Amino acid sequence: MYVCLCNGISDRQIRECVERGATSLDEVQKRLPVANCCGTCAETARDIIEAHRSAAESRVAA
Ligand code: FES
Repeated sequence: MYVCLCNGISDRQIRECVERGATSLDEVQKRLPVANCCGTCAETARDIIEAHRSAAESRVAA
């Protein structure tokens, strides 16, 4: 699903950034042009980053 309509960024692209080590929206923004225009998607992007980080940390702990 598209998260950032301004730049055509999907949730999958954001999750891939987290898997490559990004831990915050700022870090994702260094790799993807997300939430840099109207900003409407910023909260959703943060939620995806946090959820994916939590899931990844759970997998590592198991
Ligand atoms: S929808 Fe992402 S910056 Fe506008």
